[in-house]
Amino acid sequence: MASVAYFSSSHCRKGRRRRVVAVALFFLYFCGCLVSLSCAARLSAAMQKLEVQKHLKRLNKTPVKTIESPDGDIIDCVHISKQPAFDHPFLKDHKIQMRPSYHPEGLYDVNKESMGPKERTGSIAQLWHMNGRCPEDTIPVRRTKEDDVLRASSVRRYGKKKSRSIPKPMGSDPDLINQSGHQHAIAYVEGERYYGAKATINVWEPQVQQPNEFSLSQLWILAGSFGEDLNSIEAGWQVSPDLYGDNNTRLFTYWTSDAYQATGCYNLLCSGFIQTNSEIAMGASISPVSGYRNSQYDINILIWKDPKGGNWWMQFGNDYVLGYWPSFLFSYLGDSASMIEWGGEVVNTEADGQHTSTQMGSGHFPEEGFGKAGYFRNIQVVDSSNNLKSPKGLGTYTEQSNCYDVQTGSNGDWGHYFYFGGPGRNPNCP
Ligand SMILES: *[C@@H]1O[C@H](CO)[C@@H](O)[C@H](O)[C@H]1NC(C)=O
Ligand SMILES: *[C@@H]1O[C@H](CO)[C@@H](O)[C@H](O)[C@H]1NC(C)=O
Repeated sequence: MASVAYFSSSHCRKGRRRRVVAVALFFLYFCGCLVSLSCAARLSAAMQKLEVQKHLKRLNKTPVKTIESPDGDIIDCVHISKQPAFDHPFLKDHKIQMRPSYHPEGLYDVNKESMGPKERTGSIAQLWHMNGRCPEDTIPVRRTKEDDVLRASSVRRYGKKKSRSIPKPMGSDPDLINQSGHQHAIAYVEGERYYGAKATINVWEPQVQQPNEFSLSQLWILAGSFGEDLNSIEAGWQVSPDLYGDNNTRLFTYWTSDAYQATGCYNLLCSGFIQTNSEIAMGASISPVSGYRNSQYDINILIWKDPKGGNWWMQFGNDYVLGYWPSFLFSYLGDSASMIEWGGEVVNTEADGQHTSTQMGSGHFPEEGFGKAGYFRNIQVVDSSNNLKSPKGLGTYTEQSNCYDVQTGSNGDWGHYFYFGGPGRNPNCP
């Protein structure tokens, strides 16, 4: 039946004719190219351009309003029902859940939603707010530019992590850790069922030496086995020249359900995460950032599993509930997480045959403490009764503590916390 409908539409007939012409042109080109190498190169460049344009069309939905950010980003306010998530075949008939049914810090305060930006607590905001806001019923989406996609190794890899890069602290396989140059300084808990995690992270703008390196600070919600089928939900801040084209510190999320192979992506760069919030754009710059021996700015991130429906929700700051990852995206995380990690990760490409000077956190070691080093404070997990609790049996892990390190502590104000980070290359980290 479907194929009858397909061929009887005049639109498709036109498409078919166009395809015949395209194939003929390709063939002519191809014959010509047998005698001309430069033509072959041009042909392949043209094909790539076509593929990039198609991908951009998929990613960038028609906006209701467009806001230009001072950092050069374009923020598209896209109608909430037109967001990338709904390209997912399983989400065709999905009814958006506008708010979680449960919040681990007590009842979700609907009144906070109507507060204007001025009344909000904390002064961390996103840079694009300087030039406008998105209307109700839309979500802000950072527009993907042609250059963004061209910087990726391929269109297919754009917005995805390059390789398995999850630190596996216990009984770890060194090959797995070291193969891609990823380095970590983290704290973690495992051994129970976890239904969420929280942390307050101070925000920095670490220097990243090579464009294909990055530096991030985030939390990981993990389940499954590290080889093939790891489920992961991640959120935090990152500097990633390859992904964003600059050195700005940006809010990001990531998810995968098969250890970074086929599923998942950063932000809204594939269908999966359903955003309900009109004020915060994933992948947009955070401002201001902390200064060494200067003002400290931190962000709050809470991710939790709604016991009703099983979706994983994310909150940024004290009152921005961003949206949720539908439970069906995952296998193990459909039930619960088995490990939580918090901390920093960088890529060290050893560009000049030595460790690069890409910084983690503030670029200073944890010993330096407040005002100088990066920190995670008030780190908590959501337990099986859906309450926020202090993590039990917090461990730490780092591949080379002379390059990047981590130090935990606890007190009344900050609960469980740790300082982390480092400068990368230094006399002890050659
Ligand atoms: C990872 O590689 C670095 C540099 O090549 C090496 O010094 C370090 O010992 C390795 N770490 C592990 C856990 O194998
Ligand atoms: C980012 O930082 C690197 C190293 O600090 C610098 O070489 C590069 O020019 C910067 N890139 C941009 C787009 O500012």
